[in-house]
Amino acid sequence: MEPLHLRFASTSLLISFDSGEAEIIHWGSDLGENLPGLAILVEPIPPSAIDAAVPTGLLPQASSGWSGRPALRGHRLADGVSGLDFSPRLRVVTVTSEHNSAVIVQSDTEAGITVESSLMLHEGGLLEVRHTVTNDGATPYQLDELATALPVGPDAVEVLDLTGRWARENHPQRRSIQQGTWVRTGRHGRTGHDSSLLFAAGTANFGNRHGKVWATHLAWSGNHEQFADTIGDGRTLIGGAELLGPAEVILQPGASYTTPILFAAYSDRGLDGISEAFYSWFRSRPHHVLPSGADGKARPVVLNTWEAVYFDHNLTTLIELAESAADLGVERFVLDDGWFRGRRDDHAGLGDWYVDESLWPNGLTPLIEAVTSNDMEFGLWVEPEMVNLDSDIARAHPDWIVGPASKSHKDGGRLPLEWRNQHIIDLVNPEAWQYIFDRIDALLRDNNISYLKWDQNRDLLEHGHAGRSSVHEQTLAAYRLFDQLRKAHPDVEIESCSSGGARVDLGILERTDRIWASDCNDALERQTIQRWTGLVVPPELVGAHVGPTTSHTTARTHDLSFRAITALFGHFGMEWDVRDVQGAERTELKRFIGLYKQHRDLIHSGRMVRADLAEDSLMLHGVVPQAGAEVTAGSTSALFALVSTGSAFNQQPGRITIPGLEADRTYRIEAIFPLPSDADYEYNYTQVQPPAWMADGADATGRFLSTVGLPMPVLNPEHAVLLQVTAV
Ligand code: GLA
Repeated sequence: MEPLHLRFASTSLLISFDSGEAEIIHWGSDLGENLPGLAILVEPIPPSAIDAAVPTGLLPQASSGWSGRPALRGHRLADGVSGLDFSPRLRVVTVTSEHNSAVIVQSDTEAGITVESSLMLHEGGLLEVRHTVTNDGATPYQLDELATALPVGPDAVEVLDLTGRWARENHPQRRSIQQGTWVRTGRHGRTGHDSSLLFAAGTANFGNRHGKVWATHLAWSGNHEQFADTIGDGRTLIGGAELLGPAEVILQPGASYTTPILFAAYSDRGLDGISEAFYSWFRSRPHHVLPSGADGKARPVVLNTWEAVYFDHNLTTLIELAESAADLGVERFVLDDGWFRGRRDDHAGLGDWYVDESLWPNGLTPLIEAVTSNDMEFGLWVEPEMVNLDSDIARAHPDWIVGPASKSHKDGGRLPLEWRNQHIIDLVNPEAWQYIFDRIDALLRDNNISYLKWDQNRDLLEHGHAGRSSVHEQTLAAYRLFDQLRKAHPDVEIESCSSGGARVDLGILERTDRIWASDCNDALERQTIQRWTGLVVPPELVGAHVGPTTSHTTARTHDLSFRAITALFGHFGMEWDVRDVQGAERTELKRFIGLYKQHRDLIHSGRMVRADLAEDSLMLHGVVPQAGAEVTAGSTSALFALVSTGSAFNQQPGRITIPGLEADRTYRIEAIFPLPSDADYEYNYTQVQPPAWMADGADATGRFLSTVGLPMPVLNPEHAVLLQVTAV
């Protein structure tokens, strides 16, 4: 059988079938045409080893001598005996390929197991892999794990993954690759605040824009593991798997299980190349929110009520807030938690998805009309998967609350520990699922709602249905809820929020239109959170709000400029009682809203550029047009922010190179914040000592900017400047 060679965007995936199974020969830079016969790659047999070469299987298996983590773990149950057919020997049956996709079927007829693998290499170089295992036998097969993993280059010596906590999501951690396995396990029943959005292996010190990097992402919102597995001969595989609960998936004869998609990208120019592959894939999806002018609508400026009023819902206040927001140029007003029956604080009400009549005697209509008559869209917060014990629905259907017991808690069944006073509603129960669907559907039918902020505020601990572990089924049932509601209301956008960023993955993003990256609106924290969330998720999908002057989550105080420049590189909004914003501060807020509207098409369609800087306290990041995009003289070509995240080690930043621009084109680079005239504002926010060129701007080629650079202003800690680049 001929080898399979998928190629796109400087990436190749080469699979050979010579050994009888699908064997990954190469995943990495493009190999071009004219490949040699692959027999030249057959390796010698080392002493004290299996008497055959061990292939790097697409489905690594012990039957081929693989001593690392096998792709498939499970066993058959027959005649009261379990543990049968524990080690399949999968051999290739068929390979079909079209364009840049392929389906490979491998089977073990004796064990009664077939695995079908689908692979697709997308135009921007993002690889999509998933496996489906089918039980061909006559008795049940218990699936313990089906993992998807890919080999990284032998020169990969470091692994980078992300972790975090509430209000501090997506922070990187690195270690050197050594023999053994580095596993990140998520048992939160949701993606998790500490989940690794990306698992990357690369050459020594790979950075934002240098080094070879191989990276994977598991598109799944339930329990999972991601790992880098290095076996004794030095081969390393990176990948992931759904983490199944005890006997959670038992395949009856003929039944199948499909893994979450593993997305994978290779870059020979550091992490920015990985982001490019992911962004390109996101933006190629037919339902992706598009920037304006490309048949879509621009990402509207948002005002979210949470940090403005919390649970204090009062129609007069909210209408005032909406009018103040409209005056600022807000385009979408989102009413957060606190509007439904019994919800005066976070102890009660979840599950009772009816507008609270005591607060809203005429329903939400008066507020919605105030919002829409001011040319804003109306958005509403919901948390459909959750329930408070203090709710009518929990009282009426105690058996709808999930727990480890097979009986309802009213009959003495134990419930999991409470989390923010709440429990989970059992969406695996068709009646409970239907009730939730009907309530949200009715809200969307009865009210002029354009947007849902869909929250999920607790882990799924001891998650059971009818006494059996059921995170797998619950995750699929939640996905079905999103999918059916989207189908019924295709024009309603949905945001995925989970106590901030605890459900950020490509599984949920396939059915939502943006994520709430973090409950932390502190701009300093946000710089890091957004940088690393943006490794995978493009800025148009990452909610970023200007919060109150003193952050509610950290008590730090920041200038408006620092908060606004931070929010600008995402889907911009505010979460602040803007009625209080007056005078010069209001003028400045309007200016930043104007800058966002002016530049959002570029920010939401361009390539993200993050410089590698020697000074740890500085970040230079920006957006440049896509390669090949038409750049006309006088048009804004790029936007950069130089950000100080702490007190500088060096006396001044000196010359900083600006990467990502076309080498031979001449550009005008100028500061658009601060402007020289900004010193006249009433209050002192800039704290910037600018270099001479910032008075009038500088003209230079992309080559000059990326090699010599420009002297940058001395910034006080936690301040930023915004630079605009125009093609001359
Ligand atoms: C979660 C969200 C917040 C807010 C509150 C409301 O914590 O992350 O943004 O919506 O719930 O209760």
